[in-house]
Amino acid sequence: MIKMQYITLNNGVKMPLVGFGVYQIKANECEKAVKEAINVGYRLIDTAQAYYNEEGVGSAVVNSGVPRDKLFITTKVWISNAGDDKALKSIDESLRKLKTDYIDLLLIHQPFGDYYGTYRAMLKAYKQGKVRAIGLSNFYDARFIDLCENMEIKPAVVQLETHVFTQQRKMTELMAQYKTKLMAWSPLAEGKNNLFTDKTLKAIGSKYGKTNAQIALKFLAQKSIVSIPKTVHKERMIENLDIFDFNLDKEDLKRLDALDTGKPLAADFTDPKLAKFLLDYDKTFNPANS
Ligand SMILES: NC(=O)c1ccc[n+]([C@@H]2O[C@H](COP(=O)([O-])OP(=O)(O)OC[C@H]3O[C@@H](n4cnc5c(N)ncnc54)[C@H](OP(=O)(O)O)[C@@H]3O)[C@@H](O)[C@H]2O)c1
Repeated sequence: MIKMQYITLNNGVKMPLVGFGVYQIKANECEKAVKEAINVGYRLIDTAQAYYNEEGVGSAVVNSGVPRDKLFITTKVWISNAGDDKALKSIDESLRKLKTDYIDLLLIHQPFGDYYGTYRAMLKAYKQGKVRAIGLSNFYDARFIDLCENMEIKPAVVQLETHVFTQQRKMTELMAQYKTKLMAWSPLAEGKNNLFTDKTLKAIGSKYGKTNAQIALKFLAQKSIVSIPKTVHKERMIENLDIFDFNLDKEDLKRLDALDTGKPLAADFTDPKLAKFLLDYDKTFNPANS
């Protein structure tokens, strides 16, 4: 089995450097996929209230045969649960669905609604021992700074769209001020920009006998950025984890740095249409509403 590497968060909690993301894995397929991922060596699972598959993650964790304290579960509070009381209730609901008495990392999923209330609720849960670390997702620039400056406990992690084409250099600098770690969502850019056939990645991969996906993920790992690639295929689960037996050299890193477009490919958080889509998301996609 592949030996995992870890980073240490600003409150001392250790977090695996590569995890398994379960967005868009259907509720009835999630347990199988997560069990398979744990079996091949993943120790970090990234889910969210709005993925509607926390129960599958919980069942896989309970039935995996791996002790709970060797696993690291991340989930996220959705916008429809924003605010002090609602968020606190939703954290208990996530704990119930995940069949655990603590969440390793809890994030505010989107910078919309009463996210100040949500952060206060997460702090409460943190102090009660229900959560080991708290953080944010999709918070950028001034909004990130505002929350950090106003809260006694700084976010341990911010999860952002991050991959070779969107490297988040500005946010990395801002986050360093608070010792906040970057966690990459869509670390393979969901295959956009032809990531899986990109010539630069391919040329570098041929030096080490590695695939484009492995080079893209190693690039993040070597910068201590946590990544959470998603796949429902066992051979790809193994491939995406098998990145700890080589190192990219300075020249490789320079060539990969140059792939940065400085812009998001998947989600532009300054776009009002995206805000509207996310604000309506739970109404549109929550299976409990259909
Ligand atoms: N916080 C947020 O707002 C947010 C937003 C998006 C995602 N996320 C998190 O980030 C995780 C990953 O993001 P993502 O699923 O959007 O994108 P991703 O991991 O960059 O890419 C997933 C896609 O790549 C394919 N794939 C995976 N490994 C491959 C490989 N080795 N070779 C070829 N194809 C491969 C998968 O297909 P198959 O499954 O068919 O193999 C899937 O279509 C999510 O599951 C979720 O946990 C968070």
